[in-house]
Amino acid sequence: MNKLLTLESLDLKNKKVFLRVDYNVVADGKIIDEFRVKASLPTIQYLLDQNCSIILASHNGRPGGKVVESMSLRPVARLLPRLLNRDVTFLDDCVGEAVEAEASYLRPGDIMLLENLRFHAGEEDNNPDFAKKLAGLANVYVDDAFAVIHRANASLVGVAKILPHCAGRLVQKEYETFEMLKQKPPRPYTAVIGGAKISDKIEVLDELLKHVDALLIGGAMANTFLAATGVNMRSSKLEKSSTSDALKIIKKAAAKKIKLLLPTDLVVAKAINAQQKGKVVAAGELQPGDMALDIGPDTMKAFDQVVAQSKTVFWNGTLGMAELPAFAKASSSMAHAMISSDAQTIVGGGDTAAYVDSVELNTHFSFVSTGGGASLELLAGKKLPGIAVLLKK
Ligand code: 3PG
Ligand code: MG
Repeated sequence: MNKLLTLESLDLKNKKVFLRVDYNVVADGKIIDEFRVKASLPTIQYLLDQNCSIILASHNGRPGGKVVESMSLRPVARLLPRLLNRDVTFLDDCVGEAVEAEASYLRPGDIMLLENLRFHAGEEDNNPDFAKKLAGLANVYVDDAFAVIHRANASLVGVAKILPHCAGRLVQKEYETFEMLKQKPPRPYTAVIGGAKISDKIEVLDELLKHVDALLIGGAMANTFLAATGVNMRSSKLEKSSTSDALKIIKKAAAKKIKLLLPTDLVVAKAINAQQKGKVVAAGELQPGDMALDIGPDTMKAFDQVVAQSKTVFWNGTLGMAELPAFAKASSSMAHAMISSDAQTIVGGGDTAAYVDSVELNTHFSFVSTGGGASLELLAGKKLPGIAVLLKK
């Protein structure tokens, strides 16, 4: 395994650290999820123990290189003192003379948070001058921004090329977890994949077939798989253009003797709203106007049995429309099956992490990733630019 440079690989005593984090958690001026902010605390604490001063930097949203007030990171600067029990200074830009002056005054134990990096086009353009300005603020670079590590942005690759650098605790834990899944997962290894689209996950499914013993498919993605096998899915959401990919996955799994489970029953409704109660039907018996919005109890029983016999379970993608309680039963059942199994349990980021967080189960899994896209790209075997710069040469 390519080894990451970790916090232990640098002499961090008394250093001024540029700490890239992913605080992409503010929408319309409010924090919608504290999970990623809390996930950055172990690294911050480690740096404080080393007597460092810390410059926190993050993007938020996609402002496209200009200032968009509703995407400001200021709300995070109000949350951090509560979590850290110490003051955090907020700067209303991330580069420029005023920021340089503030950075130069930092003393050991001081923490400041810069304004949204993406308010400057140089961040997403990976502009070398912008990276130089950021790097000029500090003397060491630590990357703990796992959720955005698949982007070749200035603060992720540019700054790492200039300053002594390493991964923070979160990036280390995320990387080691996904490498373990690719290289030596305790067997049997089961992957549970849901969510809306196959097209987003085709490379991951393909890669998973090299490693797993069982693949359980739910969510709207299962609609496309069922349609590919000839089931009339009526008004259900599906991707017609991906049915041939779905068939290829089914055939590949069969050839490798991998257990691939599709729903045998579904919860359907004629409309999507909080008033719908949903009705259970067999997978071949949808009526005109029916939309499959969750997988049914027989399917869940079969899924739960596979999970109970596994030593490793990876779950990405909710199994139904989990935002509505009537269609969250399969996702809830999966969460509990994983928690009560003896397997090591890993939850992919994005919607699935948000779901287990919303039902307050996140602390019961072996690991919940902070990255949606990033974790899927890692699992798909892609080379991620933010990881590449953190590997030992
Ligand atoms: C995320 O939340 O997915 C990450 O912060 C990356 O954001 P992006 O998809 O806008 O690059
Ligand atoms: Mg994203």
